[in-house]
Amino acid sequence: MPAAPPSPAFDAVVLGAGAAGLFCASRMGRAGRKVLVIDHAAKPAEKVRISGGGRCNFTNIHTAPDRFISENPHFAKSALARYTPQDFLDLLARHEITWHEKTLGQLFCDQKAGAIIRMLLDELDAGGGELRLNTQVTSVSHADGLFTVDTSGGRLAAPKLVIATGGLSIPKMGASGLAYDIARQFGHAIVQTRAALVPFVFTGADHDDFASISGVACDVRASTDRAAFDEAMLFTHRGLSGPAILQVSSYWSPGEPVTLTLLPGTDIAGTLKTAKRDRPQQTLASALEALLPSRLAHLVLSRTHTTPTSRLADTSHATLDTLAGALSSWVVRPAGTEGWRTAEVTAGGIDTSGLSSKTMESRHLAGLYFIGECVDVTGWLGGYNFQWAWASAAAGAEGA
Ligand code: FDA
Repeated sequence: MPAAPPSPAFDAVVLGAGAAGLFCASRMGRAGRKVLVIDHAAKPAEKVRISGGGRCNFTNIHTAPDRFISENPHFAKSALARYTPQDFLDLLARHEITWHEKTLGQLFCDQKAGAIIRMLLDELDAGGGELRLNTQVTSVSHADGLFTVDTSGGRLAAPKLVIATGGLSIPKMGASGLAYDIARQFGHAIVQTRAALVPFVFTGADHDDFASISGVACDVRASTDRAAFDEAMLFTHRGLSGPAILQVSSYWSPGEPVTLTLLPGTDIAGTLKTAKRDRPQQTLASALEALLPSRLAHLVLSRTHTTPTSRLADTSHATLDTLAGALSSWVVRPAGTEGWRTAEVTAGGIDTSGLSSKTMESRHLAGLYFIGECVDVTGWLGGYNFQWAWASAAAGAEGA
């Protein structure tokens, strides 16, 4: 006979002590529920620790539903409206954590990211929540209104189970597909997962060209048919990275071209023609170096088979137009992405049609909740993914 589930010592068990799991558990605890959080890692919230270059870009003041990608663009609206960036700032203020805006509404801690982790753990403590690390989940089942969770540390039971084990990005930090396995087990559909906010890799001549100027950065508009981002781009040993590329990667499908507009907002042809009029003895290389990093300028000239030492006086307007066109509409075809190894997030995930947007509760099984990155809601770069973690966790805590 299978062992009977123990009588529940907890009102809720939360799987995953990351941003969403800790925050949800602390709010449930504060509301008087007895909560246990378990995680297979040795330390909680490791992604918070490494986020934002160690200073955690914890939210974005421009948070709005259109900054999130999902099969159902309406799903995130309710949670995002009910737990806002200001709510999180109020929480930081209560813990005397100070912050600054870097760019594009991105808010970072003045302290190290560990301050956010300490705050999450203090909040958990204040609500009486318990945390067990180094604990493997071996199975989850449900009967008679109770979830049974078998773990390396023994059997647990609770009437509510919150899944907050995140997505697949950075497996060496403990990412696993547990949330998707549990979702499937209870009849949920999964929107195909893919690496997002991730650098592109290239093969052939593009790879060699980009690697040859690895480390060079420039402003660019990177676009696919579905989205365009004006930010910095970085050439790497493997291809292209930098914020503009990471952003557009979330909208990219394998095989699709990406259009790069270098110097967005600059009339390049006009600028070169003015230079020709004012400084006819200037070489093409030097005219381009006034606009772009030198190594990139030389790469562009070589790719357009233009002689760098040609004087502007000897260069026709048609050639300047061609050069400007190459810069403003540079179409590249990534061979792929760097994949889960470096992706900041997982796009796709648990299909939102199976979840309540108000409480994040499963529509298939009462008492089961999914929050954070495992859900098919993916934010832009810049603090949006943590805001989703906080907001979905707050919604889940209200429900559970
Ligand atoms: P998260 O991944 O944080 O937590 C999941 C937890 O579940 C982990 O503790 C894990 O160990 C545990 N777990 C997984 N599988 C398990 C299993 N089988 N059994 C038990 N436990 C299990 N976002 C942002 O808004 N601003 C930023 O600055 C950054 N920066 C950033 C940098 C880097 C390098 C990465 C990889 C990611 C970011 N992000 C980010 C994204 C952000 O980190 C991410 O969206 C959130 O951490 C998601 O929070 P969750 O709690 O859903 O998952």
